[in-house]
Amino acid sequence: MKIISTALEMQQAALALRAQGKRIGFVPTMGNLHDGHLSLVRLAKQRADVVVVSIFVNPTQFGPNEDFAAYPRTFAADRALCEQEGVDFVFYPAVPEMYPDGASVSVTENALSRTLCGAARPGHFDGVCTVVAKLFNVVLPHVAVFGEKDGQQLRIIRRMVRDLRFPVEIVSGPTVRESDGLAKSSRNQYLTAEQRPQAVCLRRALDEAERLFAAGERDPQTLVAALRALIGKSPSAKIDYAEIVDDETLQPLAGPIARPAFVALAVWVGKPRLIDNTVLRP
Ligand code: PAJ
Repeated sequence: MKIISTALEMQQAALALRAQGKRIGFVPTMGNLHDGHLSLVRLAKQRADVVVVSIFVNPTQFGPNEDFAAYPRTFAADRALCEQEGVDFVFYPAVPEMYPDGASVSVTENALSRTLCGAARPGHFDGVCTVVAKLFNVVLPHVAVFGEKDGQQLRIIRRMVRDLRFPVEIVSGPTVRESDGLAKSSRNQYLTAEQRPQAVCLRRALDEAERLFAAGERDPQTLVAALRALIGKSPSAKIDYAEIVDDETLQPLAGPIARPAFVALAVWVGKPRLIDNTVLRP
């Protein structure tokens, strides 16, 4: 496994692989790798000849009061996990390599990133789009894999790839969970022993919405009320948002669910803000 820290060297390696006819699979991450990330690596391996994982804590996607400085940086452990998974290249740049002095060009998505996490975290998805666009230009992948856990991010990346004509196939991987249903996340480690069991309320609420939907409930307001009631049972949980939106536009639904609907939750459980989602398909 090769570790590369400059954009030029990574591009040269990618161009050489392409010249040999190799298909490049790419998994962008911010490190602190867990089974969720590794499941994406396995998907990339199935779909490509060579797998590149990037590890870069991207400053532009963190708000001024968010956890950029405190975000866990665990390169030694991440590197060992990548090696075990048979990753071919780890791209591990420092901040100036991705954002050279005076960098003044960014990518803004203007529709899907206005709701949900985009409304709660202004500028977040501009940061994500900008860094992913740069990473695509550096890694030159044929296929890139993203997790369904960050459902809004996945939809925005698909839109960016479509609109900016990136020659990259986007593949998604299902959310990997703890045995009780909590979606794996670097932020789970900030849950106290008391909060940890309560964090399962996100998945429980989604289960309840899925159950009601399967039983025929189509009214988004009734389903949102059920989500809120379930989360409300956990004393440490504070809802940031609980919404059901159109799966394609991520805009609020005008009436009963008649097309696929994206159910999205962001909930503070003590210090960490946890997200989870599901899709209801009529
Ligand atoms: P990060 O949070 O490190 O996540 C990297 C990838 O792993 C994302 O595609 C995310 O959806 C996926 N992922 C995280 N938890 C998962 C889980 N439990 N199951 C399955 N997949 C999971 O998302 C980012 O980094 C950044 O925004 C990034 C795209 C790298 C741009 O900086």
